Amino acid sequence: MSKNEILLRPFAAVDLYFFSGTGNARRAALWIADEAARQGLRSSTASIDRMRPPIAPPPPDTLTGFVFPVHGFTIIWAMLRFLSGFPRAAGKPGVFVAASLGGCKLGRLFVPGWEGSGLYLALLVLRLKGYRCLGALPLRNTPENWTALVPGYGETAARAMMERTRMKAEGPIRLLLSGKTALRGRISFLFGLAVFPISLGYLLLGRFFLAKLQFATSRCTGCGECAKRCPVGAIRMIRRRPYWQITCESCMRCLNYCPRRAVQASHSFAVVLCWLATLPVGAWLFPDAVMPGVPAPWGRWLVVAVAEYPWMLLSISAAYWLWFRLLAWRPFNLIFEYSTLTRIYTRYREPDTAWTDFQAGL
Ligand SMILES: Cc1cc2nc3c(=O)[nH]c(=O)nc-3n(C[C@H](O)[C@H](O)[C@H](O)COP(=O)(O)O)c2cc1C
Repeated sequence: MSKNEILLRPFAAVDLYFFSGTGNARRAALWIADEAARQGLRSSTASIDRMRPPIAPPPPDTLTGFVFPVHGFTIIWAMLRFLSGFPRAAGKPGVFVAASLGGCKLGRLFVPGWEGSGLYLALLVLRLKGYRCLGALPLRNTPENWTALVPGYGETAARAMMERTRMKAEGPIRLLLSGKTALRGRISFLFGLAVFPISLGYLLLGRFFLAKLQFATSRCTGCGECAKRCPVGAIRMIRRRPYWQITCESCMRCLNYCPRRAVQASHSFAVVLCWLATLPVGAWLFPDAVMPGVPAPWGRWLVVAVAEYPWMLLSISAAYWLWFRLLAWRPFNLIFEYSTLTRIYTRYREPDTAWTDFQAGL
């Protein structure tokens, strides 16, 4: 690189923060850091696993990037919380966001994942904190990792998908590093706004429900690796058995990387939880509710919904606690082990990411 090029560079450094359940977002952050290093910039990557946001804002000559997966068509809660706690900007430093999505591969056809409101909601938070928003990168071909729901991709397909993602991301990454803007997915964001009620439902309720489907089968040796490597510290070991607290992000790390394949998600327990949480407790408690100033059906609906919400959270947590106790009894555990599809699903792992890579700062 010539001396002139070095002098004209818009940034001296690139700092990347990432959240990654199964390695896709982590890998993308490492690509960006590698490209920055190739261009002679200082670069650093930091996993936000159990990390508090820094206290000091980045210097004006530093480009800061945030890489995370999208859940429920929006930004994953752990990253939204991290961004909310990120310091206010001093001197308008540049930022960008990138989202790893749930792409599929059907034969030779690559079907993209969809970020909904994920990228631009993240940028909105950063904009409100005074940052200059330079980039939004949807990484649409990273493999789907929701293996509580669908089988994961094996190594060959996953490599092909990651490679395609890397090739497509190269151009926008170079643009960003040269100080230009690369705001992709703006039209897609408009559709994301249309489905925002679904995303809000996911953030307010869906993620708590999903958190409570994980359990350990009789294969579990109580090694506690899942608890050690949980990015949000949501797994507690109780009598050498993992207990998933409601703060679990369903990032799928424990399920996909457990060395003994002992972690499953129970589909039959999901049915029980659905039934329990949707009992019309609010309507039972307040049959004639009215809300002053709000027209009749809406007022009643609001009171019922407000009463229903704590019931949903409470019933999900209490039922899980009871289920966890009963699962200690082997015959009961076997019923759930053999009645879940995750028992036969292929686990997903980003091909170049090992269990041991999931430590803060790597
Ligand atoms: C609970 C859950 C919800 C998800 N929702 C979406 C979604 O709305 N859109 C999408 O494209 N991918 C979705 N995915 C897939 C992941 O975002 C995707 O596989 C991502 O690349 C995983 O990145 P990671 O390996 O860094 O965690 C979801 C996955 C999970 C587990």
